[in-house]
Amino acid sequence: MTVHTVGHLIGSLSKDSINRRLATALIKLAPDNLTFEEVAIKDLPLYNRDLDGDYPPEARALKDHLSRVDAMLFVTPEYNRDIPGGLKNAIDWASRPYGKNSFSRKPSAVIGASIGAIGTAVAQQNLRSVLSFCDSPQMNSPEAYIQFTEGLVDDDGNVTNAETEEFLRGFMANFGEFITRVRAVIPPEE
Ligand code: FNR
Repeated sequence: MTVHTVGHLIGSLSKDSINRRLATALIKLAPDNLTFEEVAIKDLPLYNRDLDGDYPPEARALKDHLSRVDAMLFVTPEYNRDIPGGLKNAIDWASRPYGKNSFSRKPSAVIGASIGAIGTAVAQQNLRSVLSFCDSPQMNSPEAYIQFTEGLVDDDGNVTNAETEEFLRGFMANFGEFITRVRAVIPPEE
């Protein structure tokens, strides 16, 4: 069994983030061929292309980390019908300098939770568009739009609704298979 390292990136900076809770639950439900490392974004300065020739340490650390992971899992809220600015900022740093896009050929999946009924659907579509431009092969199906109700994930990262738990386990199983398929036919860039 080949084990893949997945970088999970949480689009919210809030310490009480429901998306952080969701990420904890997803990691617990993931198949054995996946291990996880959080890709931190909260200390990144705002992206500025004037710095492309000399990235600040936080941005260099981001790119170094991304170079070591086999795939990306984006777990994000929806802010004003889009992805949070902090997430977009991280993607902008990661995508540059020109010709050194960290997401190129790297398989990814997108998921998110909101308190609203459409469960981050609009933000996810926008994120998919950004990741397409960044040349990341994305898992198209299943999609997962999670409306987060109080207590859906407990303090230990357990999903309290059996149907949702099974759905999320299936999502992660599909992601594990997707990474294996993509890595078999699209090896990472040298
Ligand atoms: C929101 N929220 C929200 N929810 C949604 O379904 N669609 C939206 O467009 C927005 N917009 C939005 C903007 C801003 C600035 C905030 C702070 C919140 C509500 C959102 O779903 C809720 O705050 C979640 O708890 C955010 O996820 P995290 O940060 O807890 O992971």
